Amino acid sequence: SRRSYHEKVLDHYSKPRNVGSMPKNDTDVGTGLVGAPACGDVMKLQIRVDPKDNTIADVKFKTFGCGSAIASSSYLTELVRGMTLEQAGRIKNTEIAKELCLPPVKLHCSMLAEDAIKSAISNYYTKNPKARQTDLGGTGAAMPKVEIETVSADQPSA
Ligand code: FES
Repeated sequence: SRRSYHEKVLDHYSKPRNVGSMPKNDTDVGTGLVGAPACGDVMKLQIRVDPKDNTIADVKFKTFGCGSAIASSSYLTELVRGMTLEQAGRIKNTEIAKELCLPPVKLHCSMLAEDAIKSAISNYYTKNPKARQTDLGGTGAAMPKVEIETVSADQPSA
């Protein structure tokens, strides 16, 4: 028998929430752009962070992909709004797949959404290293890369 999409997938697919984009150069915007190598589908997810408490104040997505990928990203936007970056970074694709009743063959579509939010958070942290230090308590495990500047001592003055 043919497997049909679950009604929750169809609901998000036919009325996707929070479609759009934000100016990616804004300091408080984190952008995640990820692709699924297996099928070539691409997802862009952007978060606007409230720097006062590191919560996600707004979220937008654009997905060029299958119905499950669109539904996964639409559901994800509803899920992460209001969360702290730390909470949003812990979302697992299995939660999304469970909510949308995705069949095993469509699990990678929800993985795209998990990758996208992680990538958006990481981009925000790269732009706002202090926020990462606050969130992770300086564990050093995921600290931003430090650019070491080498200055020659005998540079002629301009
Ligand atoms: Fe690739 Fe859904 S088939 S993201």
